[in-house]
Amino acid sequence: TQTLVQAIGARIPARRRLAERLSTVHAKRVVHQMTVENVMGGMRGMPSIIWEISETHPTGVRYHGKSLDELEAALPKWPGSAQISPEALLWFLYTASIPTQAELKYFAEDLMRRCQLPREIEDFIDSLPTTLSPLTHMQMTYSALAKYSKLAAAVDNGVSKANLWTYALEDALDITSRSILVISRIHNNFYGKDRKIKPRLDMSGDLAKNLAICMGRSDDFTFIELTRLAWVLHQDHGANVSAHTMRLVSSALGDPYSAISAGITAGTGALHAMAIENSLAYNKKMVESLGLNPSREDIEAYILRDIQAGAVLPGYGHAVLRVADPRLAWVRRFIKEYPVPPPANGKAPTTSLDLIQRMHDIVPDQIRTYLPKVKNPAPNVDALSGSTMLAYGIEADFILMFMANGRGMGFLCQSIWDKVLALPIERPQSITMDRLLAKL
Ligand code: MLT
Repeated sequence: TQTLVQAIGARIPARRRLAERLSTVHAKRVVHQMTVENVMGGMRGMPSIIWEISETHPTGVRYHGKSLDELEAALPKWPGSAQISPEALLWFLYTASIPTQAELKYFAEDLMRRCQLPREIEDFIDSLPTTLSPLTHMQMTYSALAKYSKLAAAVDNGVSKANLWTYALEDALDITSRSILVISRIHNNFYGKDRKIKPRLDMSGDLAKNLAICMGRSDDFTFIELTRLAWVLHQDHGANVSAHTMRLVSSALGDPYSAISAGITAGTGALHAMAIENSLAYNKKMVESLGLNPSREDIEAYILRDIQAGAVLPGYGHAVLRVADPRLAWVRRFIKEYPVPPPANGKAPTTSLDLIQRMHDIVPDQIRTYLPKVKNPAPNVDALSGSTMLAYGIEADFILMFMANGRGMGFLCQSIWDKVLALPIERPQSITMDRLLAKL
């Protein structure tokens, strides 16, 4: 049984040697011919960021070369759970090795030992007005927590570059662990004030179980399983907008708490994580307009109207994927396997998972017909993940926090390797359009 630090340490010499070889022996080799299309197109298709933990291919993400399906078979599960364990995936992302059951247990215990918030941060969270969104609370809390960064202190104290990764790892594990206290405290301020939850953490439980304890849902097995799934599915997808934002902050030696705060901000874009909430809102409007079980013709006419009006269909298309997002199949499987609870207030549901899944078959054909230039009309995970969380009792304004938390955890694994490999500050050359034209 090794500790996480030992498992990361075992990989370091070979990865540093490879980085050295790439930066010296191969430094001047050409990997990609940059076209005007790359420059005008938001750097799409340009392999220009080292991402140690995964690669997103047109057919889906692979973590250290493995698909989610392969990892499901290989990674140890948390006792009693049918989902991939987020902690097991984290271990794998950090180390590229499959943890043993004992290593998973030890890792989870280490995370739980770190699970506390400074008093002033608790007071800070409690002082935030609930007229601001929960996501804003989360973003501000991480900014406030930056003062506790061990990496920032190490940078101030002049610790050598080669050793900074150990401090970054300390922050990464503290953040991963503390995140459940941040989310649940904000949640209780919004929705649980009258419940007076006094959580007693289960020090031998995993993070999902302990989040449920802190949110007063410890008996809700489905919620715990869904939390595990959400953290796994959103943990990493390469250099997407939120992860890239965190990487950018971190490349300038910004501390991990501030990087997470920036990543949350980046996620609020409608073309990124906000698509999760927007696709939920889209479904709600469709149910209002067509009812819960419309005909195929009605759905087609409704979507066509939006396509012709130039509206964004949230949850469709992708910058990298060219097929339906494999992560979507995991959400669909969850819905099949875990019965959806009836709406808490006894009223008719305002959204329909069934309708969303029927749309997955209809929308791509319509986009292909009416917007033939779109390279990938298939649905991605955002098309269903948020509505699923809502259906299982996660409040609409908390859904993005689950995504953000998974994404933050995953990025932190990458950020350790940025430090191990001493990757430089990111600073692309900017260019005016006139200058670009003059170069042709
Ligand atoms: C994500 O996981 O953040 C989305 O699929 C977006 C992306 O990968 O660019």
